[in-house]
Amino acid sequence: MKIIMLGAPGAGKGTQAKKIAEKYQIPHISTGDIFRANIKNGTELGKKAKTYMDQGLLVPDELVVDLVVDRVAQDDCENGYVLDGFPRTIPQAESLDAALAKMGQKVDYAIDVDVPDENIVNRMSGRRACVGCGATYHIKYNPPKTEDVCDICGEKLILRDDDKPETVLKRLTVYHDQTQPLIDYYTKSGVLKQVDGTVDMEDVFQAIVKILGA
Ligand code: AP5
Ligand code: ZN
Repeated sequence: MKIIMLGAPGAGKGTQAKKIAEKYQIPHISTGDIFRANIKNGTELGKKAKTYMDQGLLVPDELVVDLVVDRVAQDDCENGYVLDGFPRTIPQAESLDAALAKMGQKVDYAIDVDVPDENIVNRMSGRRACVGCGATYHIKYNPPKTEDVCDICGEKLILRDDDKPETVLKRLTVYHDQTQPLIDYYTKSGVLKQVDGTVDMEDVFQAIVKILGA
């Protein structure tokens, strides 16, 4: 099962991708997480990516496409994967399709988690991310057991640098300009499925399970 998560920043792609990966036992591949890990480790890729991410801009296609194409060709992706945050531009989607076609594969589902812009800033300002394991919480909708401490690894929880309101607004503009056209792209290829992302996290997941099958 090869799944792509679509949706605005903060729509809940990461939250749902983790649940999908767990239920269907497939890898969760988040380009945002890959970049954040590279930033944390001070790699060249991380340094380059950070200059774009901090401004709410997309990292250039050439820095992300090969990375994902190599990742989905690995052995643990044989039975599928859930891509979270990729593709984000039409050229990325075309590169992915071309690479999959060479392997005799194709995208099975593109799941669009639909949340209106009005809800997004509120969600992002309440999001907290773990500096240790990358787990995501929300101070109101999904709070940790102890304030600012990760339930999983005990490390500190922080507000992501790009979750400041002014950067979130920029990310939303970039989303509408560059990523939303993918909804048409995947509608045309017949794999688009939309779910209402404004309801409770568990209800969003149940809607996705209905699409993917139990
Ligand atoms: P990335 O990390 O992918 O950020 P994003 O797409 O902006 O998405 P987010 O991680 O912010 O949100 P999400 O939809 O996963 O929501 P979440 O589940 O956390 O990318 C970051 C940056 O990296 C980009 O700006 C770009 O610069 C770069 N980048 C990454 N991929 C790239 C690519 N392919 N090409 C170029 N550049 C790339 O949920 C949000 C909050 O809401 C959480 O607190 C959560 O607990 C809460 N929540 C979730 N669901 C619900 C619900 N149903 N009800 C209430 N609260 C909820
Ligand atoms: Zn953690």
